Amino acid sequence: MGQITVKPLGYALGAEVQGVDMRAPLAAEDRKAINAAWLKHCVLVFPGQEALTPEQQIAFAGQFGELDQHASQPPATLHPGHPEILVLTNRQVQGKPSGTRNSGRNWHTDLSYTERPAKGALLLCREKPPVGGDTMFANLTLAYETLTPRIQALIEDLEAVHDASLIKGIEQRDPAIVAEMRNRNPPVAHPLVRVHPETGRKALLIGQRIRGILGLSDEEGAALLNLLNAHAIAPEFVYRHRWSLGDVLMWDNRCTMHVALADFDQSQPRVMHRCSLQGERVTGRILRNPSIADRETLIQAVAAVA
Ligand code: SIN
Repeated sequence: MGQITVKPLGYALGAEVQGVDMRAPLAAEDRKAINAAWLKHCVLVFPGQEALTPEQQIAFAGQFGELDQHASQPPATLHPGHPEILVLTNRQVQGKPSGTRNSGRNWHTDLSYTERPAKGALLLCREKPPVGGDTMFANLTLAYETLTPRIQALIEDLEAVHDASLIKGIEQRDPAIVAEMRNRNPPVAHPLVRVHPETGRKALLIGQRIRGILGLSDEEGAALLNLLNAHAIAPEFVYRHRWSLGDVLMWDNRCTMHVALADFDQSQPRVMHRCSLQGERVTGRILRNPSIADRETLIQAVAAVA
């Protein structure tokens, strides 16, 4: 193929990459150029990849990290024969509503409900409704860097409890799939602020699948999270992708969150194939019985004042 070109699609994030043959192994310098563009733009769009096979998608993704084998997901949601691919579909699967038919409907960072959130993901659009079915991404590095130093200091050492039960619409899914999701993914605590292993920049790890913040009361945690989430999804920090068939999006999950919009006619098929790259580090710890509010400390503090 020709020269690789990178055209920014948004000021905060998003860029279109042309000149890449995703079916063949990348030359070392091309891999380096794509990785550099990924770090800079956080979300890369590779259009026109309708013909990519599952094997080729997996092989391409594998050039940017270890593939997640999806131990966190019920097997019925994976591609038959290719467990590295999560199938996000609103088509029926084996005569039943699919376990992923309404996936991604609240702001999240992939697999933040596991101890090792994904490094990144590659999502291929296989079928799409005539209009809508868009995905929005927020740049969480910019969101962190534009907080005032006082709020940055406040959140520096705080941990948030991420919970797969808070996936929006999970209750509409097959109860067996939901039970399996919960069993596989007990609540897990992660720092609110993390350091990107390649850029060294700090980013928020937030979203709408967080039950609370350790050491804060439920009310304090909710207020702080609302503030951070509202700040991070300001239009200035967001890129909205309007899909074309055959688009592959590759996002850096270490500094972004996203949401899949339900802005389409649900009787129309929307089918996406996602490979996730395993996170480089374990940043979470499982909390079997999370008690969010540190009420002991609160009670002692009040007693001391009285
Ligand atoms: C996801 O959350 O990974 C799904 C995104 C999408 O279907 O647009």
